[in-house]
Amino acid sequence: MLLTKDAFGKDFIWGVSTAAYQIEGAHDLDGKGPSIWDIFVQKRNKIFQNHKGDIACDFYNRYIDDLQLMHSLNIRNYRFSIAWSRILPNGIGEVNQSGIDFYNRLINLSLELGITPWVTLYHWDLPHNLEQKGGWTNRDIKDWFSQYVAICVTNFGDRVNHWMVLNEPTVFSAAGYFFGVHAPGKRGIDYFLAAAHHAALSQAEGARIIKSLRNNSIVGTTFSCSHVEPFTNREKDIIAAKKADVLLNRLFIEPLLGMGYPTDEIKALKRIEKYMKPNDEKELSFNMDFIGIQNYTREIIKHALFVPFLRAKIVTAKQRKVEMTAMNWEVYPASMYHVLKKFAAYPNIPPILVTENGAAFPDKVENGGVEDSRRLQYLQQIIQQVHRAKLEGVDVKGYFIWTFLDNFEWAEGYEPRFGLVHVDFQTQKRIVKSSGKWYADFLK
Ligand code: GAL
Repeated sequence: MLLTKDAFGKDFIWGVSTAAYQIEGAHDLDGKGPSIWDIFVQKRNKIFQNHKGDIACDFYNRYIDDLQLMHSLNIRNYRFSIAWSRILPNGIGEVNQSGIDFYNRLINLSLELGITPWVTLYHWDLPHNLEQKGGWTNRDIKDWFSQYVAICVTNFGDRVNHWMVLNEPTVFSAAGYFFGVHAPGKRGIDYFLAAAHHAALSQAEGARIIKSLRNNSIVGTTFSCSHVEPFTNREKDIIAAKKADVLLNRLFIEPLLGMGYPTDEIKALKRIEKYMKPNDEKELSFNMDFIGIQNYTREIIKHALFVPFLRAKIVTAKQRKVEMTAMNWEVYPASMYHVLKKFAAYPNIPPILVTENGAAFPDKVENGGVEDSRRLQYLQQIIQQVHRAKLEGVDVKGYFIWTFLDNFEWAEGYEPRFGLVHVDFQTQKRIVKSSGKWYADFLK
């Protein structure tokens, strides 16, 4: 039987998530400075078909219509991010009033429409000027980020109550500074470890600053996570899966909870200590009001002798010949249940919100509509899995769908579509998909 939202109780938070660079466009308008993504997309062959986020969904100019559309779909919680380089074109120093004005308009209209804003302070678009000083690999970023956070809270904190400090530090430190497949495109274990440590420090420090300026704020941060399983029951695969679990799930939550970095399983991770100062271990921890978890799939891991540092690799969904999304991720809704249980099992874990989940499928516009039955079914199955975890005692308080509009999907460009609303990137026309209509109905 299909669940209704009543099964979750009336305080359960239902919403949608987006991120600035993926939807706003207006990349150099009204004083905005370049971010690392503005620079990275200009390099050849980094992004699918060399797509760029220069215009994206043109949300910067169309936010009024888009918020009204969101409202018409009964969505009452909206998670979006602030583009740091719209507020501070150089990342530090002079404030760009037009940037402040834009987010004021966005926040005010949301509130007028009865939509609660949930603001992510950093969703991967570091100001380029700061990257030139080393970006996340430079310890000074803790201060740069703190100044930016303080400006946001001072300007918006009278109306914004819900904050998320970082979006998925694992992904931006690993994809951006180890694999080089995301901005800024750096590669190497030392870049990665430095970036990871400074992100973890900034995550706790950012939260402390929000609380010190607005004590009543509700503060969290978000983590990517995937249920991990070994490919076989051989000991080597089990060990490999444990290592992958450290990187995919444990690296940032454990220091935040005061447990320190999980360096036992992976020798190379110990090198992170090189970047630590005497008081850091304490400074890494903070008692958040909530933890945002973001889950899309599970990973099957096997031993791999030739993979440096990890000796582990993913057995892809393609290799396993299982059902996949347009991201080549396995369709595996039970992963949501498992990650919720896993995070809830930490002692002293704050309440959990699912701050992102969704699926990309190749949608087609036919007779003016988009019948995205696979996405719709996936979302329904996920909601069942959230409910299953809740019934077993997991303190899960909300669920946000990734995402409202089809948008710029980082290295994959505009190809994968995750939206509840279809976007024609030539005309900027929006069409609510069947999944969007279903969500509206569900939320009624
Ligand atoms: C998350 C990320 C989002 C979005 C989503 C789908 O990792 O926070 O920005 O891209 O994945 O891939």
